[in-house]
Amino acid sequence: MPDRRAHGLSVENLVVRYDAGPPAVDGVSFSVSPGELFVLVGPSGCGKSTVLRALAGLVRPERGVVALGGKTVTQSPGGVFVPPSDRHLGLVFQSYALWPQMTVGENVRFPLEARGAPKSAWAAQVVRALERVELAALADRPVPSLSGGQQQRVALARAIVSDPPIVLLDEPLSNLDAELRRQMRTELREIQREVGATMVHVTHDREEAMELGDRVGVMRDGRLLEVGAPEELYRTPAHAWTARFLGETSALVCAEVRSAGPGQALVSTDLGVFRCRAPAVSVPGPSAMVIRAEDIVWSPDSSGDPENLVEGRISTVRFLGSRTLYGIESVGVRLWASSIVHRGEPGDSVSLRLPPESCLLVRRDAD
Ligand SMILES: Nc1ncnc2c1ncn2[C@@H]1O[C@H](COP(=O)(O)OP(=O)(O)OP(=O)(O)O)[C@@H](O)[C@H]1O
Ligand SMILES: [Mg+2]
Repeated sequence: MPDRRAHGLSVENLVVRYDAGPPAVDGVSFSVSPGELFVLVGPSGCGKSTVLRALAGLVRPERGVVALGGKTVTQSPGGVFVPPSDRHLGLVFQSYALWPQMTVGENVRFPLEARGAPKSAWAAQVVRALERVELAALADRPVPSLSGGQQQRVALARAIVSDPPIVLLDEPLSNLDAELRRQMRTELREIQREVGATMVHVTHDREEAMELGDRVGVMRDGRLLEVGAPEELYRTPAHAWTARFLGETSALVCAEVRSAGPGQALVSTDLGVFRCRAPAVSVPGPSAMVIRAEDIVWSPDSSGDPENLVEGRISTVRFLGSRTLYGIESVGVRLWASSIVHRGEPGDSVSLRLPPESCLLVRRDAD
């Protein structure tokens, strides 16, 4: 029986440079527990695929240690380098990388042949992998006759057919239309639970990252900025950049800390004085206050405590069906506030309350 127990993995201080320029991956460290689905998310070119290539042994890092299932497979410098074929990983590449001259079944069977698995079990394993992605009926079809979504599933079946303890997926849903992407996200999660493998999934799509990941690592310019459970990252990012990347409707206002207590702070901003959450009390360097559009409270007027109150004018109205998003201008700062009921038209004056528990002090990185 193949070893179906999931393996953990770790990456320590990984540096990968393709040429004389700056490193594509610069000092990345993280670890993934057995059976966990870990997602790396970040904009195009930030180094996500390069991290996966280093895990798979498809690039040799300049520095760093990679361990799979507790075994060091790369150590640079140090000379340890286990070749890709001996790492027993399931791989789904950014392009599906299927062989067009082969049938669906032959494509899925390929890793079993390459690994020298007992021939007598091939047919059953191929059927089982294809059943998991609901393609068993298409085993004899030539690959080019399949739709994009079906080819994507063939790539997934091929990655899991030999029961690898770790599966690496590079943008496996990127070529699908929006509806199929959503459907495949759910299926992928189910397949992961069923197979029980540890997965590292790479995407530039923040919604996909948050829906799929047990934990999510946010990458920017070759660095891993922060790692956390999806809701924790969304609600309490440490960096302004993460806040903006994960939630496009947030407002970010430069903030100067006036006083700080345990977990909270009083800050001055261009919009006035605010009480806010400050989980990292010692937010070093320049900071910003972030608030999500959905957390802003529409106030009937500006009476009462002036703290955490903003007065402004509606500048933009975006009707999104279940809610409307309002752009609000206040002393040259743009805020976004959402509402399920109609709140006015461009030019109307509004008062907004930003509840202290929804205002968050974060680190403002150099942009
Ligand atoms: N084979 C290569 N030779 C030279 N530079 C490369 C090579 N592959 C990637 N790079 C560069 O390394 C950086 C990181 O690339 P990488 O493919 O890891 O990014 P990514 O986050 O996967 O991007 P995407 O979301 O577009 O797939 C980029 O600047 C890219 O141009
Ligand atoms: Mg990539």
